[in-house]
Amino acid sequence: MAHQLTRFFAVLALSLGLVLTGMTAQAQVNPTASSVTEDSMFEALGTSDTVSGRVSIPNKTAGTLIKPDNKDWAAFQRGALPLIFVVALGGMLVLLAAFYLIKGRVRVEHGMSGRTIERFSAVERFAHWTLSSTFIILALSGLNLVIGRSVILPLVGEAAYGTLTAWGKLAHNFLAWPFMVALVLIVVFWVAHNIPNKLDLVWIKQGGGLFKKGMHPPAKKFNAGQKVIFWCVVGGGVALSFTGYMMLFPVQAGTPSDWQLYQTIHGLVAAGLTAIIIAHIYIGSVGMEGAFDAMASGQVDENWAREHHSLWVEEVKGRTDAPAAGRTHPAE
Ligand code: HEM
Repeated sequence: MAHQLTRFFAVLALSLGLVLTGMTAQAQVNPTASSVTEDSMFEALGTSDTVSGRVSIPNKTAGTLIKPDNKDWAAFQRGALPLIFVVALGGMLVLLAAFYLIKGRVRVEHGMSGRTIERFSAVERFAHWTLSSTFIILALSGLNLVIGRSVILPLVGEAAYGTLTAWGKLAHNFLAWPFMVALVLIVVFWVAHNIPNKLDLVWIKQGGGLFKKGMHPPAKKFNAGQKVIFWCVVGGGVALSFTGYMMLFPVQAGTPSDWQLYQTIHGLVAAGLTAIIIAHIYIGSVGMEGAFDAMASGQVDENWAREHHSLWVEEVKGRTDAPAAGRTHPAE
C-alpha cells in the first residue's frame, strides 16, 4: 500500500511536468545528473531521506516530493488519529452508559408543575439547531474520513463506500459555512450569559447537584457545566473553522508542512469536541427529564427551571419591562 502510494505520487509529479533534475535524495542520486531514472527515484523514495529537486513552476515547494516529516504525518493519520477518535468517542459512550445505569435519568424532583416558562426564543432555537445539525453531519462525514476505510468499507463494499465518501466530503466542505454562521449567532445570543462568576464555583463544588438528592445549586441562565460546553463549542468551533479554512485553501495555509499541521490540529480538536458534544446530546435529551423541551418548543416546566436555574427564574419573573421573555403559561 505504502509502495503504491509513493509510486502514485512519483508518477503524478512526473506527469505534472516537474523537472526533477538534480534530485537531492542524498547518496541515492547524483544531484548534478541531468536526468533521473525512474528506478533511482523509487529507490530514493524507499529511504528516510528527503526527495526533492528543482521545479520550473513558481511554487518551489512542489519540488519536494517526499520528506521524512511527511511519512511521520502519514503514519499519524493512519495510526494514532483513528485510535484517538475511537478512545475519545468510545470512552465517552462507555462513561455515559455507566452513568445512566448507575444514576438513571435526572428527574424533576418535585414533578412537573404544569406551568411553563419561555427559555429560548425561536431565533435562538434556529441558531442552535442549525449549529447542531451541521455539526452532526460534519462530525459523521469527518469521522468517515478517519475510520471509514477500516470500519465502513468492509461492511458496505467499495461502490457504496465510494459514493458515501464523495457525498460526505462535499457535505463537509459546504456545511462548514452554515456551521460558522450559526456559531457566530450563538456567540451573539449567549456570550453574556456565559461569563464565569463566583456562583460557578459553588455549582462545581456541589457537582451540579447530580450526586446528592435534593441538592440544587443555584444558577442563572446557564450553569457552570453549560458554560464549559459553551466555551468548548466556541473555542473548538473557531479552531475547526480556522484550520478547515486553511485546508480548503492550501495557498493560504503556507508550506505543505503548515497544511499538515492544520490538518493534525483539525483532527485532534474534532475528536475532543465530538466527545464533549456526545455528553451534551445525552444530557439535553435522554439524560435529563424536561431539558429537551427548552430547545424543542422553547418552553420549560417551571419546576424544572427552579431546580436547575433558580436565579434565572427569579430574574425573568421579576422583569416587568420585558414580559415576553419570562412569560409563564398554564400547560395545555
Ligand atoms: C441532537 C442533538 C442535540 C440536542 C438534543 C441538544 C439539546 C440542547 C438543549 C436541550 C439545550 C438547552 C439546555 C438548557 O435549557 O439549558 C442545548 C443547549 C446548547 N447546545 Fe445543544 N443539543 C444538541 C446538539 C448540539 C450540538 C451538536 C452543539 C454544538 C456543536 C450544541 C450546542 C449547544 C450549546 C452551546 C448550548 C448552550 C449551552 C448548554 O446548554 O450547554 N448542541 N442543547
